[in-house]
Amino acid sequence: MNAEELKKIAAEKAVEWIEDGMTVGLGTGSTAYWAIRRIAERVKEGLSIRAAASSMRSEELAREWGIPFVSLDEIDRIDLTIDGADEVDERLHLIKGGGGALLREKVLAAASDRFIVIVDESKLVPTLGTFPLPVEIVPFAERLTLNRLRELGGDPVIRLAPDGQRYVTDNGNWIADCRFGKIEDPASLNVRLNQIPAVVENGLFVGMTSSVVAARKDGSIEVRS
Ligand code: 5RP
Repeated sequence: MNAEELKKIAAEKAVEWIEDGMTVGLGTGSTAYWAIRRIAERVKEGLSIRAAASSMRSEELAREWGIPFVSLDEIDRIDLTIDGADEVDERLHLIKGGGGALLREKVLAAASDRFIVIVDESKLVPTLGTFPLPVEIVPFAERLTLNRLRELGGDPVIRLAPDGQRYVTDNGNWIADCRFGKIEDPASLNVRLNQIPAVVENGLFVGMTSSVVAARKDGSIEVRS
């Protein structure tokens, strides 16, 4: 199976866990896309849910495809969020934010009773750190912030949009993609990064994952909890 088919079957497996009456968190990215698509199909078939989104793009998809939408200001908890990841380690810690939505994704994950991660097997790694860690920073004092990220060993590069301008997140911030090498202690790095004043959030999701649904190349599905 090709990568797109694997993303689709992982997403569709996770969507089976959604039940009537749930408030569902929608992730962002090419794997989450398939989950949103399948949720929309189930809604058309009669599933009764409401959904909150982790990005403007996912909100647009939900609205376009007729998924009942709820703003985060109208709810206290999310029953289940389904989202992709850039890397998943053996303890189910994640790197996220390749699609630039890490802040809202982390807000949803933290508000969710169950946070389900959907990936193809290429995202499974023994130790995080091959994928550059996205760090969302405020557009102020960039030089000072990048210096602080360098002091932590991050080798930051400001992410650019296809037009060559700085990539701007849904929150009006910038992303510094940081190469730390192997991240042996993601819990500690997560805290140290967020102690930098101009860092809004970083893409390390530590201890937040309830289950990972991983699609293997042969089309089998592995669930890790
Ligand atoms: C967006 C994310 C995505 O979930 C992550 O980048 C994986 O994306 P894809 O499913 O397209 O590989 O964190 O901010």
